[in-house]
Formats: sequence, structure tokens, C-alpha cells
Amino acid sequence: MADVPTNAPIECPGTQSQQAGKVSACNGCANQQLCASGASLPPDPAIEIIKQRLQTVKHKLLILSGKGGVGKSSFTAHLARGLATNEDEDIAILDIDLCGPSIPRIMGVEGHQVFQSMSGWSPVFVEDNLSIMSIGFLLSGPADAVIWRGPKKNGLIKQFLRDVNWGELDYLLIDTPPGTSDEHISIAQYLKGAGVDGAIVITTPQTESQIFPPTTGGGRQMAIDMDVPFIGKIPLDPRIGKCCDEGISYFSEVPDSPATKAYKNIIEEIRKFCASKPANDASEVEN
Ligand SMILES: Nc1ncnc2c1ncn2[C@@H]1O[C@H](COP(=O)(O)OP(=O)(O)O)[C@@H](O)[C@H]1O
Ligand code: SF4
Ligand SMILES: [Mg+2]
Repeated sequence: MADVPTNAPIECPGTQSQQAGKVSACNGCANQQLCASGASLPPDPAIEIIKQRLQTVKHKLLILSGKGGVGKSSFTAHLARGLATNEDEDIAILDIDLCGPSIPRIMGVEGHQVFQSMSGWSPVFVEDNLSIMSIGFLLSGPADAVIWRGPKKNGLIKQFLRDVNWGELDYLLIDTPPGTSDEHISIAQYLKGAGVDGAIVITTPQTESQIFPPTTGGGRQMAIDMDVPFIGKIPLDPRIGKCCDEGISYFSEVPDSPATKAYKNIIEEIRKFCASKPANDASEVEN
């Protein structure tokens, strides 16, 4: 696992790496002696800082998927919009999907400037009670993500978890990179102190049909196998893609569709799940 302490240079190979303390990047780093000796470093202070930072957030949910293109960001956006229909609650999305940070586009705020003040990065407000922060705001183009590898990615993810000034929130939804990479381990580690209510796994029947016969419903079977609740299934509807591309709300555009109904049921399930707050759980949505 590429663990990069907050005080390490950006080229840090990770404290768990064979090269820890031994490469040129380590010269002058405060941890060099400990890293080179193979001793474990004290816990990353960022974990505590992130915990403090997220103390004003009631519920934190990670949105995960095995691979890209399965509807993870669309789901995150709809979950946020659905939750935000309760005007008494404040919702935010943190988009740390370096592979394709699409939340600004889906939420209709692509290309917005983000500001950093003494109290941290200020999120962009989509509605009075719905704000977002995305790594996409910091990229000048899709090629940028490619140059951010390993430790540098982790440093950036950590910075985002640590430095966004959310204020009081009821729900923070974190759109993560697809797959089960180092980044996920880091995200889970950084959020250890802050506590996460649960993880929502997005999958498609097509993805899973190689593993499970399609007739069983891939997502449902996977949820049973993983012993996590299967929250629901969203029908395919090309208008979802269109609304996401145009950055407008599918719920406002198509309020009575089967997909809207499905989203709403799922959102209710997630509300209930968060209200009961069982720790270290995961749930599954089929898209
Ligand atoms: N239920 C759905 N019906 C039709 N298209 C969908 C649905 N969910 C997502 N999409 C579309 O599928 C594509 C991939 O979705 P996206 O949310 O960007 O995936 P990911 O974040 O997993 O990469 C997008 O064009 C999106 O608009
Ligand atoms: S000594 Fe090297 S491996 Fe250890 S934290 Fe510093 S840069 Fe990273
Ligand atoms: Mg995405």
C-alpha cells in the first residue's frame, strides 16, 4: 500500500515500499531514518485532521464500483439530488475519481473555479443545500489524470479529504475511482478516524454476467454472496445519459419514469440505512 505521510515529498515511494527511505526522494525527508530502518512510522496525522474536519458531517458514504462506466457517478449525482429534495438537510459530493471526475459535468458546474481560503477549499454550490468538490476542478484536461500516479494521487486524495471546508452536512457522498486500487486502501485508511456509514457498490448485469448467469441478476447474486444488502436496480433509460451530459436534473425532467421511481426507492433505503448507522457495512445497487 502506498502510504505517503503528510510531511513526505510528493515523489515519496510510500512508507511500505521496499524503497522506503532509500531513494533520492527520501533525501532530506524527516522520516528517512525511520523508513530506512523498516520501523513503522507513527500514524499519519492526516487521519486525525480528517476526523476533525469531517466532524461536522453526519453521514459519510463511499460510492464504489469494480470498473468504470457502470453508472457510479450518475448514481452519486442522483442520490445527492434526491437527498437534497429535503430542504432541511445539507448534502455534498466529494469527487475523488481521478480516472474520470465527471461530477462537475453531471451537476452542471463544469469549469467552475474553486477557491482556497485560510479555512480550506470552498465547495461549489449547485443548490442552496447541495455542494460539490471535484478533483476535476483542478484538472486542465483529461490527460492530467494520467500524470498523477501512485503517491501523488494519494497525496491529492488526502488533501481533498483534509482540506475541503464543508461546513455542517447531513450527507457527504464520496465518488471514488473504479476498481480496488491503492487509492481505495488509502481512502479507507484516511477515513478510519472519521468513520464511514457504509459503501454503496454499483454494478451492471453485463459486468457480472460472465461470473453469474444473467437470469440470476448479477448484482443481486453478488450482494447475496458478499452478504451485503441489495438495495435495488435502476432500469436503463437513455434520458439519464442525456440529463447527465447536459448537467440537468433527471428527476425534474422526467419525474414519473420507472428509473425515477427506482432511484427514489433506493434513496429511501439509503436514508433508512444511515439512520440505523451500522458500522463497516456495504450495500449494492445494480445499474
Ligand atoms: N440507468 C442508466 N440508464 C442509461 N444510461 C445510464 C444509466 N446510468 C448511467 N448511465 C450512463 O452511463 C454512462 C456511464 O455512467 P457514469 O455514471 O459516468 O459511470 P462511472 O462513474 O461508473 O464511470 C454515462 O453516459 C451515464 O449517463
Ligand atoms: S523517507 Fe522516503 S519513503 Fe519515507 S516518507 Fe520520506 S519520502 Fe517517503
Ligand atoms: Mg465516474
